[in-house]
Amino acid sequence: MYFYANLQISMKTAIVFGATSGIGKSLVELLIKDNYKVAVTGRRLEKLEELKQSYPNQIVVKQNDIQKVDEVEKIFFEIVDEFNTIDLIIQSSGVGFVNPKLAWDKEAQTIHTNVVGVTKLYTLAYNLFKQQEHGHLVGISSIASLRGNRSAPVYFASKAYQKAYLESLYIKTKSIKSKQVFITDIRPGFVDTAMALGDGIFWLVPLEKAAKQIYSAIKKKKRVAYISKRWALIAVVLKIVPAWLLKKAT
Ligand SMILES: NC(=O)c1ccc[n+]([C@@H]2O[C@H](COP(=O)([O-])OP(=O)(O)OC[C@H]3O[C@@H](n4cnc5c(N)ncnc54)[C@H](OP(=O)(O)O)[C@@H]3O)[C@@H](O)[C@H]2O)c1
Repeated sequence: MYFYANLQISMKTAIVFGATSGIGKSLVELLIKDNYKVAVTGRRLEKLEELKQSYPNQIVVKQNDIQKVDEVEKIFFEIVDEFNTIDLIIQSSGVGFVNPKLAWDKEAQTIHTNVVGVTKLYTLAYNLFKQQEHGHLVGISSIASLRGNRSAPVYFASKAYQKAYLESLYIKTKSIKSKQVFITDIRPGFVDTAMALGDGIFWLVPLEKAAKQIYSAIKKKKRVAYISKRWALIAVVLKIVPAWLLKKAT
């Protein structure tokens, strides 16, 4: 009994926002194998319950819609109360639409999720880690963060926002004396999930491979990681190509 209690205490703790499918869900499975206790979130309760059924001792279910920022704050502190300290927060929730006609409902939903909701999560995570003097925040942005795009302007803009916010938090960690707060920006290209929509998809990475590469980057506490790695080459080109050439070529 005493041994079991100690085992519980030594478990690392994580929250995964957007754990119901895709990248977030695959990362939960890797964390479970690595002996983490994980709070899983998302809107689809049945998907969260499935995870709980598979790993009853390591999963805590907290359904939420990150567009409702007051609710996000409430469940965040419920998890903190339950876990006491949090070692890792992975922010994978997001939406993306191909929306060339700029239909407002899709633009608004993307802003409320990828910008407003995600900012709430970033601020909660950073302030907690600052107070704890330790912790690791991982945001899943995108290669889309680097430039504009004609078919999905709001998605690309929201990812540029996330990239800049994560970089700002990284810069802010300078003020944390312990130097034990880390910020990682994961920038996938195309990963084989429901989100990989639209024409012109190439170098589609299988979900399992992407999750393993992301988890490796997390363990190394990388500041930025491209998934798969060869997207780093595309990133170099994207950063220097002039807008007129993007207009002509895409
Ligand atoms: N797949 C790609 O090619 C790719 C490339 C670059 C970047 N990314 C980024 O990777 C992240 C994960 O996407 P994915 O590819 O794994 O797609 P996914 O399977 O569609 O996962 C998206 C996750 O976000 C959650 N989510 C969406 N809206 C939410 C809301 N309002 N409140 C709470 N949770 C919400 C979803 O859960 P519920 O629907 O249950 O709420 C789901 O768990 C996203 O941020 C995406 O932009 C993906």
